[in-house]
Amino acid sequence: MATISDPRLVVVDHPLVQHKLSILRDKDTSTKDFRQLVTELAIFEGYEALRDLPLEDVQVETPLEVMTAKRVAGKKIAIIPVLRAGLGMVDGILSLVPTARVGHVGLERDHETHLPRAYYCKLPPAVDERTCLVVDPMLATGGSLTAAIQFLRDAGVRDIRCLTIVSCPEGVRAVLDFDPDVRLYTCSVDRELNDDAYILPGLGDAGDRIYGTK
Ligand code: PRP
Ligand code: URA
Repeated sequence: MATISDPRLVVVDHPLVQHKLSILRDKDTSTKDFRQLVTELAIFEGYEALRDLPLEDVQVETPLEVMTAKRVAGKKIAIIPVLRAGLGMVDGILSLVPTARVGHVGLERDHETHLPRAYYCKLPPAVDERTCLVVDPMLATGGSLTAAIQFLRDAGVRDIRCLTIVSCPEGVRAVLDFDPDVRLYTCSVDRELNDDAYILPGLGDAGDRIYGTK
């Protein structure tokens, strides 16, 4: 696995994440289990990506006395899945932040050129005031993620955090070079891309494995 040192990159490598990721990569893992593991890994990543959520004091009466406790200070959050595979990460993040809005960016890689084609974009209201978590399990050339980031910057979003499950050095560099303020969370930076722009060792086509389309 590759090591890239950049303060904007966080590799979420908790032992449970590494365990689940090893099952996710296995070609014999079923569609049902693959989908469940993507949801679980998204929860670990969301937990890490929201580590700096602002808190506020609240008075709570326990059965014994009144105390000052902390609650999340109503920060506005949006989850932006990159269709189609990113949809597989939404429920995991929503289980952490049930009030988050969800926007969708539709991008599909051309199999010959490996360039993304945009086919949909629907963002929640006041998206520019929100912390946006862009979710997509795979970061390969970086074409899809940089296109998604551009949609959000064009809409005035300032706080963008990208969550991927498997990345590669080419894609990580492309995203970090594209946007100086983006933050990137991933469970692994794999070795390299092959000639078809698939990640090695990777896990194959995430969308096909989540939806059982191959
Ligand atoms: C996959 C993946 C990313 C993209 C990564 O989606 O989910 O969106 O490829 O590749 P890149 O970094 O080189 O752009 P794909 O285009 O296959 O669409 P799908 O989610 O509909 O399967
Ligand atoms: N998209 C995927 O789903 N997998 C890869 O390895 C590269 C792009």
